[in-house]
Formats: sequence, structure tokens, C-alpha cells
Amino acid sequence: MQTLTHSALNAGQVRWPEHMARALELAALVLHAAPNPRVGCVLVAGAATPMDEPIAEGWHRGAGLPHAEPEALAAAGDHAKGATAFVTLEPCCHTGKTGPCSSVLIAAGVAQVVIASRDPNPKVSGGGIAALESAGIPVFFLSDLEPAARRLNRGFYSRLERGRPFVRCKLAMSLDGRTGLANGESKWITGPAARADVQLLRAQCDAVLTGIETVLADDPALTVREDSLPLTAEARQHTANSLAQQPLRVVLDSRSRLYPRSKIVTGEGRCVAYGIEANQGIEPEAGELFERRSCPRNADSGRVELASVLDSLALQDECNELLVEAGATLSGAFIEAGLVDELIVYIAPKLLGSDARPLLGFAGLTQMSEAWQLSIESVTQIETDLRVVLTPTA
Ligand SMILES: NC(=O)c1ccc[n+]([C@@H]2O[C@H](COP(=O)([O-])OP(=O)(O)OC[C@H]3O[C@@H](n4cnc5c(N)ncnc54)[C@H](OP(=O)(O)O)[C@@H]3O)[C@@H](O)[C@H]2O)c1
Repeated sequence: MQTLTHSALNAGQVRWPEHMARALELAALVLHAAPNPRVGCVLVAGAATPMDEPIAEGWHRGAGLPHAEPEALAAAGDHAKGATAFVTLEPCCHTGKTGPCSSVLIAAGVAQVVIASRDPNPKVSGGGIAALESAGIPVFFLSDLEPAARRLNRGFYSRLERGRPFVRCKLAMSLDGRTGLANGESKWITGPAARADVQLLRAQCDAVLTGIETVLADDPALTVREDSLPLTAEARQHTANSLAQQPLRVVLDSRSRLYPRSKIVTGEGRCVAYGIEANQGIEPEAGELFERRSCPRNADSGRVELASVLDSLALQDECNELLVEAGATLSGAFIEAGLVDELIVYIAPKLLGSDARPLLGFAGLTQMSEAWQLSIESVTQIETDLRVVLTPTA
């Protein structure tokens, strides 16, 4: 495989970044394809000279459905012979719910394949590239687009490379960093548009996690309400498969206090509660979509060990992306444990005063150098509120 940076492209390759950018755009049409990665494919006739236009496009619509490459090849028909295939991720070489994409590309007679990222799946990991090359099809790696391709599937990479999901923690607060009044009233801090944006975050993840105190206080369903999603009809249609199933809902409940009629248990889709001791609580009454799992106890807090929960979600549920929507205690514990990959904070232009509830439950810092340092990825105004996306600084 030849690695190419944009500056090393020859005259016949100058439009390659444009074709790959389109393939990335196609991949992003679905909100998630878990447990699979999101993948896009663009086919360009012939050897992809500067004059060539794409002849077909395809993208992976979700687990169990055709991958991006066969979708594009089917759209191209006989024109696929001799074409250049731009694929955001190395084509697979194993048979899962669908056949190997490398074989399909070989059978269609494409002339060359350009990729933007390698597949971290041990069942593939270079095997797709090797299969194409042994069939005489050159493979090129557009390395400048690799960060965008990895970002598109950061949950998939996280699960396969680190053995745990990518963790986003969502919080909503007032301008003075408060999440509710001293008497517990917290609805609503942010406006309807910010709350609709949270629906989108839920729809993008595989699992939503909260703490038992939030369940006891608010009884949230934590499901995706499809009609609340800020999507156009076309975008909704493109991602229809990912909206067909609710994200897994996860409750951390060390002492088995979850009750059977809570919305998180009775809502559509599966719910898992992690506690210290198994076989307690509500399992017998709650039905087959509810499962109670036991977890090691954290020696310091005496509560559920957070890293074990993440391991379990990756291993047992193939969870790529996890959204934490918890109160100050559990969100703070995730941050203190260094397990948050991205923080999304919605800020409402309201002031709640110093007796109102704080954003995060950790305390005890004595020096500024001990502060949790974050860097700002983006700041977006969503009608009356702000959304700030941050990542922890290593
Ligand atoms: N502003 C926001 O974005 C937002 C989002 C969600 C909720 N809320 C509000 O937050 C309030 C509840 O907050 P909260 O802080 O009391 O509850 P929380 O963070 O939702 O839940 C905390 C509970 O989780 C359990 N837990 C299990 N393992 C844990 C671990 N390793 N570390 C920490 N906790 C663990 C603990 O109970 P056990 O020890 O019994 O297991 C703990 O008391 C509600 O009023 C809700 O409205 C606000």
C-alpha cells in the first residue's frame, strides 16, 4: 500500500481528497451503525483523472445491512469495471452478516482502491488491503484524511483499540454553573432547542448511562423521541435504520434501588443496571429487556467500579459510544476517574445563586495546578443557550 499526503498527489490524483471528502460525508449520513463503523464509498470511472466525476456512491446504513462498497458497486453496475474506489475505511476481508468487501471489489474489477483509514478490527487489520493487493489491485492510503476518518468512527476505534466505548458526558447548567435549585427543582434549565440537541446526542450513541439518584429524582426515560430530533426529512430517511432501535439504557445502582415501574426500565428497548451484588432488586418482575449485572466494588467509593462498567459495555454489548447523562455525583466520578473523552456542556443564560446545586460533585482541590484542564473544541449558540464541546487536556 502506498501512503500519500495531499502534497504528494500527482496531476491525475488532484481530485482524490475531494472524492474522499464526499465518501466521508456519505458515511456521516447515518447517526450510528453500531456495532459496525460508519463507512462511505465513492466510485470514479477509470483511473480517476482530474476530469473524472463520481459514477456511484454508497454508504453503510447499519448493522446487518450491505456495506458501503457493495452499495456503490450495485449502483454503478457494469461501469464499476476499471473504476477507482474511494472508501473511508479499509475494505473488510471477513464474512460477518455480509460477505467480504475486498472480494466484492475484486469481483467487480475495480482498478484501484483509495482508503482514508485502516480497520482496527483484528478480523481485518490489513487483511483487506492484502487481499486487494494479492489480486493485483493497488491500494493507496490518503493519510491527511485519516484524522477525519477516525473521528467519524471514534467509538468503534475506542472499543477495538482500548476495549472501552468513547465516553461523552453531557451536562446542562446555568451561567453560574448550577444545575438545579436547592429544593431540587431543575426543569428546565435550557430551552427546547438545546433539549432537542440532546436528543440528537442520544440518537448518535449506543448507550445512555445515568446514576440511580437521577432515576429516583426525575424518573427519566432516556429514550430517543424521534419526533423531537432536529433532522430534515431527508436526513431522517438516510439514518432510518439507526433510529429503529433505542440506545441501551444503563443505570449505576450499587445498592439495587432501581424500581420496576421506572421509565428507564419500562421504556422501549433494553435496560441494564450495574450493582455490587447480583441477583437482587427487580430482575424477576421487569421482563427480558431488563438485566442486572454485578460489578467489582471501587475500594475508595464503595460503589460500582466505573472502568469495569465500560469494559463490560464494550465486551457484552459491543458499545462504541456511551453518553453519560447523570447528576453531579456520577458525572464528577467519571471525570475524576479520567474516563470522559468529551464533555458537552449546555449553558443557559440564567443565574441560580450560590445555594443552587453545583455542576460536579468533586471537591477538595487546594492548588490551581490540580484543576481539571479542558480544551474547547467548539462553542455553538443553540437559540437561547450555548453548547460548549470540550476535551480533557492530557
Ligand atoms: N444538569 C444536568 O445535566 C443533569 C443531568 C442529569 C441529572 N441531573 C440532576 O441531577 C440530580 C441527581 O444528581 P446526583 O448527583 O444526586 O445523582 P447521580 O449522579 O445521577 O447518581 C448518583 C448515584 O449513582 C450511584 N453510583 C453508582 N456507582 C457510582 C460511582 N462509581 N460513582 C458515583 N456514583 C455512583 C450512587 O448511588 P449508589 O451508591 O446507591 O449506587 C450515586 O449516589 C437530579 O436532580 C437530576 O435532575 C442533572
